[in-house]
Amino acid sequence: MATQRTFSIIKPDATERNLTGAINAVIEKAGLRIIGQRRIKMTQEQAERFYAVHKERPFFGELVEFMTSGPVVVQVLEGENAVKAYRDVMGATNPADAADGTIRKLYAKSIGENSVHGSDSEENADLEIRQFFSEADIAG
Ligand code: PPS
Repeated sequence: MATQRTFSIIKPDATERNLTGAINAVIEKAGLRIIGQRRIKMTQEQAERFYAVHKERPFFGELVEFMTSGPVVVQVLEGENAVKAYRDVMGATNPADAADGTIRKLYAKSIGENSVHGSDSEENADLEIRQFFSEADIAG
């Protein structure tokens, strides 16, 4: 598998607890390189667009409200098989199901406030990266 990029968000529950550096350490220890990074406050429009695929789900409003409730760190990660590698190190969506040593097992508070997002496919990674980054802001 060739070098690949994925998109990551360090969510408001984690920035609020000052965990950006701790999470980045787990990411880097997993062999992923942080090749783009920006701390932003997501607008309602950005969050609704980002999570549009979930708009019919009962938690959509709560998810958008949470993701706009505080700063997030948006990131581009690069590495071998990066999409799967990052999903593996994030752990299961629900921290109760997450494996030991994963970011969500270590830090997530609940299925909603679960500290990190990672793309679920290479195609979505590309779309998500382009929502938040221009190529000039990424250095591999
Ligand atoms: S996954 O990984 O896409 O299969 O997970 P999924 O269960 O479909 O969840 C998608 C995103 O929605 C968030 N989520 C919730 N937010 C608030 N309340 C509830 N109950 C809830 N359930 C799921 C979950 O954290 C996922 O966010 P992202 O940012 O995509 O990881």
